[in-house]
Amino acid sequence: MDKPGTSLANPAPRPALEAIDLTKTYCTSQGEVTAVAAVNMQAAQGEFVCIVGPSGCGKTTLLHLFAGLLEPTSGVVRTNGTEIRGPVRDIGLVFQNGNLMPWRTVLRNVTLPLEIQGVPLREAEDAARGVLELVGLRGFEGARPRELSGGMQQRVAIARALVYDPKILLLDEPFGALDALTRERMNLELQRIWQARRKTVIMVTHNIHEAVFLGDRVLVMTPRPGQICSETRIPLPRPRDLSVMGTPEFGALAQSIRAAIYE
Ligand SMILES: Nc1ncnc2c1ncn2[C@@H]1O[C@H](COP(=O)(O)OP(=O)(O)OP(=O)(O)O)[C@@H](O)[C@H]1O
Ligand SMILES: [Mg+2]
Repeated sequence: MDKPGTSLANPAPRPALEAIDLTKTYCTSQGEVTAVAAVNMQAAQGEFVCIVGPSGCGKTTLLHLFAGLLEPTSGVVRTNGTEIRGPVRDIGLVFQNGNLMPWRTVLRNVTLPLEIQGVPLREAEDAARGVLELVGLRGFEGARPRELSGGMQQRVAIARALVYDPKILLLDEPFGALDALTRERMNLELQRIWQARRKTVIMVTHNIHEAVFLGDRVLVMTPRPGQICSETRIPLPRPRDLSVMGTPEFGALAQSIRAAIYE
């Protein structure tokens, strides 16, 4: 007899994203650098997974492998069971540095991925206005990136990743450059957007509290070559508000993740 959830009529859902024995070695002028080594992980459909780890442990490398921007040295990445061999439309990436184009307006930064896909400009602008409203930037469509605060620029970068409605969103330290208060507000915003759009999110962060606040699961990476050394489920109810950070449950989860980092 089939186990529950595995019959043909009701097959077990495939992970939105899975990495199997994923390794990346860069060849540099100094020799070979193995950034990530034999990483195995999965993200379920609609799950919010956070990855924390020390600087240089291979987090950005891992996200770029997931996005199909880098080729693995060995191992595979799959989305819904299909191997990723190059950039995929279903996966959006927010880069560590925002990567906005300074000469384009906010609106035209957000329309860019659609323009590349050949979507007519009028249609692209309508879609861009919709996601800019979602990230709270209505009224700033005509501004240039330099006229915005750091938090607003990151929201433009998130809007640009959302505009073509990818199923999976990869976020590389999206709030790393922000002050603590703005960062907390952005965490609330991101939770709201994730709940509204029901995406699978994989977010890299240095901030343990941010990871516990946002994640369904938090993975910890070792120093380079990066490997996943611990996994913590975050059973805190949703939607979470900032007061959850003061609870003993939150404190205990953050403490156990901190211990895994320094093990
Ligand atoms: N294009 C590249 N060529 C050669 N080496 C690289 C390249 N990109 C990254 N590395 C090396 O791979 C290792 C991991 O880098 P990566 O940027 O993935 O780390 P990270 O965890 O994202 O760091 P941070 O937290 O500082 O952003 C580092 O030792 C880095 O020097
Ligand atoms: Mg990085």
